[in-house]
Amino acid sequence: PLIKDLFGLTDLENHLATHLRLKRVIVVPGDSDRSDWVKKEMGRAVARLLKAISRSNQVVAVAGGTTLAAVAEMMTASSSLKTTTFVPARGGLGEVVELEANTIASLMATKAGGNYRLLHVPDQLSDAARETLMKEPRIQEMMELVRSACIVVHGIGDAKAMAERRKSSPELLAHLEQEGAVGEAFGYYFARDGRIVHYGRSIGLTLEDLARAHNVIAVAGGSGKAESIAAVCPVVGGGTLITDESAARAILSDV
Ligand code: G3H
Repeated sequence: PLIKDLFGLTDLENHLATHLRLKRVIVVPGDSDRSDWVKKEMGRAVARLLKAISRSNQVVAVAGGTTLAAVAEMMTASSSLKTTTFVPARGGLGEVVELEANTIASLMATKAGGNYRLLHVPDQLSDAARETLMKEPRIQEMMELVRSACIVVHGIGDAKAMAERRKSSPELLAHLEQEGAVGEAFGYYFARDGRIVHYGRSIGLTLEDLARAHNVIAVAGGSGKAESIAAVCPVVGGGTLITDESAARAILSDV
């Protein structure tokens, strides 16, 4: 409550950017845990930012989830976006099809008037199957396209909620709990100190690839994700976070 009295949204944005070591933070009013409308407002903020930073013939890689679905819903066309190719950041991670990165990429392209390419890779691959798949010329070509993305947009989830939503095995749930996983982003699970404790076996962008993308945009809100956002953002680092007031205040009240 003290923090609420002290800071307006711009102050919140600046404090949070410093605290999470990010280039830019955009805070929308409200709490997306309580209202879907706030999630849509975060989506609108991402859509606006994307329009502003887009260049013609670029590749944009997107992750999955309900927040990214809200971003897709809010996209509108622009001349740069019409020449943009939207691709999933990674293959399947066990989400229902509506929340898969592939679905989000195609939805965004449709709304933005752009193009899309999909990555059809199942989530449960053995090492052998994964290696064979990686040798396929079409997959290699697609991987090159994904890695060439200059903008990456991803959500951040609560580790336990995400592992359960993706119907993870009891062994994985126990492992995440034991290792103190609190946050998740594009299949990676992070402990409070930013340590990676697990990552999904699909293929696609790695954390190292992310460091090479010019613009990494994380979008996540709701006070329930405060700990997750605080764990993930400094590791992915340097990019933009779009969040809501309730998450922003909760993160800073922990400082
Ligand atoms: O990868 C999924 C995100 O980490 C979180 O999903 O936007 O549905 O909470 P969400």
